[in-house]
Amino acid sequence: MNKKMRKILTLALVVALIGTTMVSWFLKKKKKKKDTVTIGLSLPTQREERWVRDKETMEAYAKEKGINLLVQVSDADAKLQANQVENLLTQGVDILILAPHDSKSAATLVEKAHDEGVKVISYDRLIMDSDVDLYISFDNIGVGRIQGEYITNKVPQGNYVILSGAPTDNNAKLFKQGAMEYIQPLIDSGKINVVLEQAVDNWEPKNALRLMEQALTKSNNKIDAVLAPNDGTAGGAIEAMAAQGLAGNVPITGQDAQIDAAQRIVKGTQSMTVFKDTRELGKAAIDAALLMAKNDFPNTEGKTVNNNKTDVKSLLLTPFMVDKDNIDKVLIDSGYMQKSQVYK
Ligand code: GAL
Repeated sequence: MNKKMRKILTLALVVALIGTTMVSWFLKKKKKKKDTVTIGLSLPTQREERWVRDKETMEAYAKEKGINLLVQVSDADAKLQANQVENLLTQGVDILILAPHDSKSAATLVEKAHDEGVKVISYDRLIMDSDVDLYISFDNIGVGRIQGEYITNKVPQGNYVILSGAPTDNNAKLFKQGAMEYIQPLIDSGKINVVLEQAVDNWEPKNALRLMEQALTKSNNKIDAVLAPNDGTAGGAIEAMAAQGLAGNVPITGQDAQIDAAQRIVKGTQSMTVFKDTRELGKAAIDAALLMAKNDFPNTEGKTVNNNKTDVKSLLLTPFMVDKDNIDKVLIDSGYMQKSQVYK
């Protein structure tokens, strides 16, 4: 072997060595990436206390499970949420948990995720017109039924204000559907007179306040009951009633078991709320994502919900009625909130 050949051979050996080291480093990295599951979480808002709790629960639980959780919050902005989801997909998430701001336009985000081979869990709010892989929420028609049954029991006749949630949110439709099962027959029989029936854009308390002011003016302050879809909108409506010295005299519903609502319930200005344990929901979503990342699937026991395109496999948790009689047991004894937070 001459000098030149030896040189070439050494060079080839060095190149081969570098090559094998690089390949094994790359494979190791890839394997490592596979071992830790990365979940993308896109939330619609942090405005309502419940969404803050969802985020906190999922972050804590993901940490406990050794999951890499990437979180994005869109603040009730569908465009921003779309950008954030694209960003999560570029970061190579294994599964996407998506609680849509806009239940309809989010369908394209499901398509985008699927194009990348990423399965999508529709969280709390159903993504319509899409092939979303799983829906994890509460029995939302059941939430509405609890509200409707409660308010019609308290006020079986009289002047009603009927508020519903954001038109962009499929839940709003379901809540109203459930409540109207109780209210509509009484409207039909002439017992209930509807002074105002309106959706509250973006679930915003200040929009509910404005609508309640309109209803009070229109009826000369003669409102007997208010169907408010959640605690935030109930808070707005109660503020409008307080300005007329009526807070506490008019039964009004709520939902979410927010701390301010719990305070109003013990004070007597809000009649009830619906407790949905977001701690359970958050954990169920992370558990499902973990299974799906490993090409497994949670047992949905044949339960599905139709989203205008397909029957989506669904896990639906149970909502609970809370009023001043059971608030200590349901919200405080369960550790959801502390006594000192409720009784101020
Ligand atoms: C709904 C949700 C409610 C409430 C509302 C406003 O989709 O189910 O719990 O928080 O949005 O964010």
